[in-house]
Amino acid sequence: MQTQPAPYNVGGVLLPQPFKIRRLGHFGLHVKDLHRAVAFYCGLLGFRICDTPENLTLVMPPEALEGVSVGGYWLHHGTDHHSFALFEEGLMENLKRLDVPRERRRGQTTANQISWQVGSLAEVVNGHRYFQETEVPIRRVGRDMPGSNWHVYSFDPDGHVNELFYGMEQLGWQRRSKPAAMCRGLSEVPSIPQISEETELQQAEEQGVDVSAGYRSRDDALPAKYDVEGVLLPRPFKVTKVGPVHLFVPDVDRSVRFYTDRMGFKATEEAEYRGHRVVFLRCGTEHHSLGLFPRALQRELATRPDTTVLAFGLEVGSYQQLRGAVSFLKENGVAIKELPAELHPGIDYAAYAQDPEGHLLLLYYYMEQVGWNGQPRPSALRRPVLTQWPEALEPLSDTYADQTFQGPLG
Ligand SMILES: [Fe+2]
Repeated sequence: MQTQPAPYNVGGVLLPQPFKIRRLGHFGLHVKDLHRAVAFYCGLLGFRICDTPENLTLVMPPEALEGVSVGGYWLHHGTDHHSFALFEEGLMENLKRLDVPRERRRGQTTANQISWQVGSLAEVVNGHRYFQETEVPIRRVGRDMPGSNWHVYSFDPDGHVNELFYGMEQLGWQRRSKPAAMCRGLSEVPSIPQISEETELQQAEEQGVDVSAGYRSRDDALPAKYDVEGVLLPRPFKVTKVGPVHLFVPDVDRSVRFYTDRMGFKATEEAEYRGHRVVFLRCGTEHHSLGLFPRALQRELATRPDTTVLAFGLEVGSYQQLRGAVSFLKENGVAIKELPAELHPGIDYAAYAQDPEGHLLLLYYYMEQVGWNGQPRPSALRRPVLTQWPEALEPLSDTYADQTFQGPLG
């Protein structure tokens, strides 16, 4: 693997890759029972459906979709068209047959995609070329509805699908997606420059397209009876951010090299847990957006054995909301699992909720912020986490300094 790539000009700044990942945008899971999963993620966690299979024009080569049921839902928690996606397990099996190189099929994961936002369309296009030149296997490139984001999908050394995307469709106050008639999909490398979204909208209106005909999620089924810091919501919390992603990998060194040398992550912190090396990587100011855990640890933690997904993070709006979320989920029969705090450095109070198929969701409200010098807070200066969660906490220097959730909580 090449370790000293030439610097690339990214918007006038020279970087080791021709793109810069800004943040985790969305994450996808494969599930056995799609409807049960939707009931959990929407009914209990408050995600909303933003598009359904009937409403999409997934742009893939026709042979790739032959005989394949695209059973899935795209979900959102904020203004991004989707921040989470659920697909029937069979979809991946069928697609594997068609476009996943044989050596990549060993992964045995329920992760569908790990999707990272970059800053421009040029970064997607140049990233595609860079992956070709550096022999990172590419799955596909182009632009899909739903979400109408431009992207390149590639594989990490263990077959996890990393998407680099630009230009996620934004949902406004009506929570309505673009209609399928506005799809300008592509299943090849886009030529650049492309027209802007504003021009697309003008053109659609000129062609008589009903631009308001897109899917709109139904109203929440639960009564809005919880006072969440001044607003009545159906749950005592609101998911305000997705991520980090915690993955088991067979070779931590190899994966760290890939995610730093190829994808541009920075290693924030290494931890040792029961003799296992665990590495946490960041792409922005949060302590980590990706955690890499040795597969050998999986049995000791007794997590679901047939997936490389250890946990997927969901940040809620406040400490009070975190406490509310744990109580609410327990009341609704959701198992809350305890994992040692060493497995989520940079986060203090946290709980792992188990989805109906055994995936763990790392619920938290605070993520340590890493500043200009790239140094995490020394562990001795971190907040000690008490078994009995206090009712209120003293602030840290970076409390509530995380990415800001925009718009109303509900
Ligand atoms: Fe995606």
